[in-house]
Amino acid sequence: MTAYLITGVSIVGGEPTDLLIRDGVVAGTGRGLAADDATVLDATGLVALPGLVDLHTHLREPGREDAETVESGSRAAALGGYTAVCAMANTSPVADTAGVVEQVWRLGREAGLVDVQPIGAVTVGLAGERLAELGAMADSAAGVRIFSDDGHCVSDPRLMRRALEYVKAFDGVIAQHAEEPRLTDGAQMHEGEVSTRLGLTGWPAVAEEAIIARDVLLAEHVGSRLHVCHVSTAGSVEVLRQAKARGVRVTAEVTPHHLLLTDEKAESYDPVFKVNPPLRTATDIAALREALAEGVIDIIATDHAPHAVEDKECEWAYARPGMLGLETALSIALDVFGPRWDLIAERMSRTPARIAGLAGHGLDPAPGVPANLTLVDPAARRVVEPAELASRSRNTPYARMTLPGRIVATFLRGEPTVLDGKAVK
Ligand code: DOR
Ligand code: ZN
Repeated sequence: MTAYLITGVSIVGGEPTDLLIRDGVVAGTGRGLAADDATVLDATGLVALPGLVDLHTHLREPGREDAETVESGSRAAALGGYTAVCAMANTSPVADTAGVVEQVWRLGREAGLVDVQPIGAVTVGLAGERLAELGAMADSAAGVRIFSDDGHCVSDPRLMRRALEYVKAFDGVIAQHAEEPRLTDGAQMHEGEVSTRLGLTGWPAVAEEAIIARDVLLAEHVGSRLHVCHVSTAGSVEVLRQAKARGVRVTAEVTPHHLLLTDEKAESYDPVFKVNPPLRTATDIAALREALAEGVIDIIATDHAPHAVEDKECEWAYARPGMLGLETALSIALDVFGPRWDLIAERMSRTPARIAGLAGHGLDPAPGVPANLTLVDPAARRVVEPAELASRSRNTPYARMTLPGRIVATFLRGEPTVLDGKAVK
């Protein structure tokens, strides 16, 4: 195993220092380190962060390998500075059995670019009718701890209650896609001024807020852990704020796109901006940013949702919702929050690792910890070129935008997965 001596690096925004990686762990930090056998990387001006952890990634395998595979998505993740991703269950077949979650887990190991932690479905086939084999998935080699029907809401309150009860035994988490389906039937975009003007059916904020309000009450009643996926409205933030003040065991995520883009993007009728939940208003964005900074929203998760060209480059009404996120998330975080490195490490690495229970991830580079880390050049700017992305899909909403920051290198247990901004394999 090659040793790496990273010189002049700022660890999470601290004073420049050297960092030695050997045998998969951080062997030492401090100025003037020497190691004859190590490959030296001059990291002057770069910032080392604990490897990013994404709690919400769609990898599309099995079933839609034309849009993404575990390997291509893992490569996109590594290039984005990630060392672990949680793979959503809405594959085909659905990841609702021990067999499928083990398959995804095994494919992740084979790709070897990030740790791929499968999420299991809550209900059989995501149909919202019967609980899936949560225990068998938890006991499988994949060791599933997070369950989600993401893409669909577990809208039946009795099933939601049972799911929360079931996972309590092993401290599992139910990650809810909060969308009351009766309020979003036929919805195409955020319900508001813009949808009225464009004549598109609206997805009202209350459809999200009502489910979150119900679910925090259920989680409180059961004493179990709830995670709320892709929070998108100011009203949701208020519900979460109250629940957390009462001590409910709830965590929440926001996506990069909900922190940056508004529903006015729909005026272009470009389906690259169609996503579920939809892009909201500037008022919502302000509330989400504040909530993330305060910790009412715990983490940034990408909801990386690759889609094949034919599913995106069509009429708005027929296009699938979702956008790419892994390769641009850190740049969006830098754009929104600036170089608040501790905040970025907390919201994109430490806390997601803790929620997912991923040992060895989310730890600041320090002697003895597994060398899962990423090196960022905060001064670099780059133009997003869809054709250059490692994802098999091209549906980035940031095409040709100039974004701050560049991932220079990523290490997974001491082995580089990205060097010089390029994937190693
Ligand atoms: O926009 C979305 N795309 N939202 C979801 O909840 C699912 C995801 C997907 O799977 O494409
Ligand atoms: Zn979702």
